[in-house]
Amino acid sequence: MDNDGFNYPDRPNDLDAFWMPFTANKGFKNAPRLMAGAKDMHYFTPDGRKILDGTAGLWCSNAGHGREKIAEAIKKQADRMDFAPNFQLGHPAAFELANRLVEIMPGDLNHVFFTNSGSESADTALKIALAYHNVCGNGSKTRLIGRERGYHGTNFGGTSVGGMVKNRMFFGGLLGGVDHIRHTHDIEHNAFSKGEPAWGEHLADDLERLVQLHDASTIAAVMVEPVAGSTGVLVPPRGYLKRLREICTKHNILLIFDEVITGFGRLGTGFAVDFFGVEPDIVTTAKGLTNATVPMGAVFCKKKIYDAFLENTKAGIELFHGYTYSGHPLAAVAGIATLDIYKEEGLFERAAELSSYWEDGLYSLKGGNHVIDLRNLGIMAGIELEPRPQAPTARAMESFHKCFDAGLLVRVTGDIIALSPPLIVSKSQIDEIFDTIGNVLKTVD
Ligand SMILES: Cc1ncc(COP(=O)(O)O)c(C=O)c1O
Repeated sequence: MDNDGFNYPDRPNDLDAFWMPFTANKGFKNAPRLMAGAKDMHYFTPDGRKILDGTAGLWCSNAGHGREKIAEAIKKQADRMDFAPNFQLGHPAAFELANRLVEIMPGDLNHVFFTNSGSESADTALKIALAYHNVCGNGSKTRLIGRERGYHGTNFGGTSVGGMVKNRMFFGGLLGGVDHIRHTHDIEHNAFSKGEPAWGEHLADDLERLVQLHDASTIAAVMVEPVAGSTGVLVPPRGYLKRLREICTKHNILLIFDEVITGFGRLGTGFAVDFFGVEPDIVTTAKGLTNATVPMGAVFCKKKIYDAFLENTKAGIELFHGYTYSGHPLAAVAGIATLDIYKEEGLFERAAELSSYWEDGLYSLKGGNHVIDLRNLGIMAGIELEPRPQAPTARAMESFHKCFDAGLLVRVTGDIIALSPPLIVSKSQIDEIFDTIGNVLKTVD
């Protein structure tokens, strides 16, 4: 062993065997960007370079890195009981975490199904929606509706309901009986909106078009991200989500919010449910739930959904669904410790307080090289660049590489730079993020 007692080398001898996810493997392996440590707002490379984390890892380390309270809880639980199944057995930490979660989720979204990722949360939510209509005697409601430019992870349900071309086009027919409403992105009307765009509430009516086409009696659920993250921080037009809720209620269609990114403080509230004051029937989460320390997702369901399963099942198992690791003890204690930190440090409120400073920082890029739109809500932001002629996405990718070389981690999707730092970010670090991007954009042609 080298590397201070860790059982792996600091610099891998061979990068070939690991087939990296959502990565240009050839490019990466020719010029690897490795991370070897992380603390608070920074990553550290094996050669000791400090990288400011502008993305909370992958929209997930909301309380910053290396939080001792979480690490200690994981270690203590691993020593006490590493694993126990939650099929016909249970352990206290999972119940405690579920109770703590429903305490901070508004309304009566007060039952929680545990998964291991955002993708599993998406597929779990879709399956619960289908089964719900079944147990309620509405078995013809089988159609699932997503939205163009939506991202709900990479399992079959989420991929099918999702609306990202590259994520779908290689995988055959995907699930049958899926349709999509149009997306809400419209630079012509909404460029440089600052927060929720004023134009576009009526885009929710696209759901009525699908109801006309398929009939409500065949539609089980609509799944959307309240703010689409992975396709470039698409903030919903003012009133849009409320209107979607009204249409769903009118037609007995379940509304599912995918809050894998917006959950746990990203918008300056616990969830987008609070921020927009719109209550869906199901909410999917993951990422910030455990501050990304141990993989875990949680699907919140309204009381009426849970009750329907319990009331309509005479005996035995009510929902034939679950994962070996649903409510894993290490994830559960990590989740409890994470919620403690959010509360003790008031991180959701902190994000709300910082959001106007964040917006001002973002708008320092207005008029910058190639910038055709700036979007923000809470502590998330999207910087849309004009695509390079004949080479879409190249400009943003070059910006990503140059930011990394300049000591800043950003994320790019298409020609959009997306930002979502940990909620512990300071004002001077916000300045550093936007100064670095501004300087990098000056050097990108
Ligand atoms: C909105 C949304 N849903 C689902 C997922 C998938 O989560 P995971 O990668 O944990 O499966 C993501 C990941 O970025 C996401 O942003």
